Amino acid sequence: MDIQGASAVVTGAASGIGAAVARQLATRGARVVVADVQDDKGSALAEEIGGEFVHVDVTDTEQVRAAVDRAAELGPLRVLVNSAGIGWAQRTVGKDGTYDSAHDLDAFKKVVGINLIGSFDMVRHAATRMSQLDPTESGDRGAIVNIASVAAFDGQIGQAAYAASKGGLVGLTLPVARDLAAAQIRLNTVAPGLIETPIYDFVPDPEAFKEQLGQSVLHPKRLGTPEELASMVLECLTNSYMNGETIRVDGGIRMPPR
Ligand SMILES: NC(=O)c1ccc[n+]([C@@H]2O[C@H](COP(=O)([O-])OP(=O)(O)OC[C@H]3O[C@@H](n4cnc5c(N)ncnc54)[C@H](O)[C@@H]3O)[C@@H](O)[C@H]2O)c1
Repeated sequence: MDIQGASAVVTGAASGIGAAVARQLATRGARVVVADVQDDKGSALAEEIGGEFVHVDVTDTEQVRAAVDRAAELGPLRVLVNSAGIGWAQRTVGKDGTYDSAHDLDAFKKVVGINLIGSFDMVRHAATRMSQLDPTESGDRGAIVNIASVAAFDGQIGQAAYAASKGGLVGLTLPVARDLAAAQIRLNTVAPGLIETPIYDFVPDPEAFKEQLGQSVLHPKRLGTPEELASMVLECLTNSYMNGETIRVDGGIRMPPR
């Protein structure tokens, strides 16, 4: 599918993988709506790539709809990439064995609300808009990529909420691709392994931490770059024979229990 002149919405585009995807889409001639809750970083990126920043919390349906409407004004909306996401680490049962120390249920709901339900809300709105367009030369009206995680398959200790949210994205990939086929819209999911983004900056010595993490990758023994991830996302969007699939981009890593 040719994305030159199309408009695109990328959630989570103010940072990391989403930002790399937004840059590569813009390089290929798309007008990108940078949809994120980080206003400063989002606006700066939108300016850099000639796109437009729209403040979007993906758990707010009004904001989701406003972003999709704005994108449709900038050009034919043919691309959605859902990269907005958060993590959470907590065991299901606490160390002292009381109800109080069991997994925080609000945190579980929040992670699922952003990563899974927020992504689906974006999909149903963007796909509705895409369905109103004429197909491109390749026969597609549009294409969508959700960003899951290898945690959907090898979730680690403490990753109940995160793995459930990403597993949900993997689970909806085929049925939603089947739903959208009638409208000639494709949907795929990319499941990253360990990718070098600001999510690893919270530790005292991020560089040493990332170096050590990289040793657990099969080959190459390093973290992936956001650009390597974005390259697969762009392939899923533009290759008209890619549909209904989840692809791991992870250097062959299989996450151990901890
Ligand atoms: N970096 C990794 O190693 C890795 C591995 C597997 C999966 N992922 C997934 O890739 C995606 C991008 O991660 P990243 O590493 O680039 O992280 P990041 O933190 O750099 O970027 C995530 C972006 O999502 C935005 N966001 C968070 N909550 C939001 C909300 N409610 N509404 C709108 N935007 C919101 C944040 O502001 C941020 O800009 C996430 O879904 C993450 O789970 C990342």
